[in-house]
Amino acid sequence: MMPSATLPNYLPQFPAGTQPSIGILGCGGIAQTAHLPAYEKYGLDVAGVWSRTPTTTADIAERFSSVRRVYASPEELLADPDVGIVDLATPAEDRLVWLAAAVSAGKHVLAQKPLTTDLDGLAPILAEAEDRGVWIAVNQNARWAPAWRLATLLIEDGAIGEVVGVTHLHDKPLPPIAGTHFDDMPHMLITDYLMHWIDITRCWLAGKEMAWVQAHDARLPGQPSTAKNPWSASIQFACTDGAHALLRVVGDVRTKKPSCPFWIHGTEGTIRGSVLGGSDRLELERGAVVTQYALEGQWFVDGFAGAMGELMCAIAEDRQPYNSVVHNVASLELMLAARASADDGARPQPTPSLQL
Ligand SMILES: NC(=O)c1ccc[n+]([C@@H]2O[C@H](COP(=O)([O-])OP(=O)(O)OC[C@H]3O[C@@H](n4cnc5c(N)ncnc54)[C@H](O)[C@@H]3O)[C@@H](O)[C@H]2O)c1
Repeated sequence: MMPSATLPNYLPQFPAGTQPSIGILGCGGIAQTAHLPAYEKYGLDVAGVWSRTPTTTADIAERFSSVRRVYASPEELLADPDVGIVDLATPAEDRLVWLAAAVSAGKHVLAQKPLTTDLDGLAPILAEAEDRGVWIAVNQNARWAPAWRLATLLIEDGAIGEVVGVTHLHDKPLPPIAGTHFDDMPHMLITDYLMHWIDITRCWLAGKEMAWVQAHDARLPGQPSTAKNPWSASIQFACTDGAHALLRVVGDVRTKKPSCPFWIHGTEGTIRGSVLGGSDRLELERGAVVTQYALEGQWFVDGFAGAMGELMCAIAEDRQPYNSVVHNVASLELMLAARASADDGARPQPTPSLQL
């Protein structure tokens, strides 16, 4: 297939007309540093927010003009007819409890990642969502990081033929983990932090069947004893047709040039790029031609607008969003197989019948 001559539109998309208002349930760190700044930038309406720690939201309406009120309880947020979309940004542990409550209240939901590790618990919630005619999207906002979004669209357009290899490297510091609730999660890098990298790799290998998943994490020389989780992690995915992916976090890299470079090799070309730390870039090499793209925006915060915009478009068009739970379940299955491998001394875990 020949790629089209025009540049695919990788920017966040929103439906025409009035958009549903957002209620943020769990307005903590990521909601305040990325969700709200993104909604502010793209002019989205936030009916209100709720946090279990009210001191952090006391002055929120002064900091974000898009926020109309602070709810006294999650029940008040869920009962507000003004709220069309519940933006669920609590930690993962109680995700399904709040997801079920939001669906029962008849709300569409954008739920933070990782959605859950309890795939069985999802089934009744999805059935109720279907009965009530509400859509559930997963906040895999990195799918709309400009470099990753354009890469996805170029792959779908046939720009590099069939994908044969995906490689991600983290040449950047880790986010703050020690001393936070994230450090209490076993294999945190594999089960939580790398979820965006697992998920985008799932998108780029779409249509393939997985053969096995292998993962390893380890403490590093120099890692402080107060840091409970291993600081290095690597995950490999192998497809039955031989296509292969590698995700590698070297450790807490100290650098003045932080980046997360990636390579997508295909039968007819290569996409190279980077995300995060101001490193965002993308180029396509095909035949004798190398095309470099001038990207608009960055993962933080445009990606967060992209994930919400896709749900809003899906609601307006009465269809599953691209970031639907159904599409995200394959990413969760990859993550669970990676966790099982790390628990099993890095032994590869067969993934029979896992279709991406
Ligand atoms: N790029 C990204 O998309 C990205 C980045 C960071 C975090 N996250 C994810 O977002 C989620 C939240 O992370 P965070 O860093 O904002 O956490 P946080 O602890 O800063 O905020 C969590 C919010 O939920 C509330 N809360 C905590 N436990 C709760 C419970 N049991 N029930 C109801 N509310 C509860 C807190 O009061 C707070 O308002 C996590 O799943 C995390 O993995 C995503």
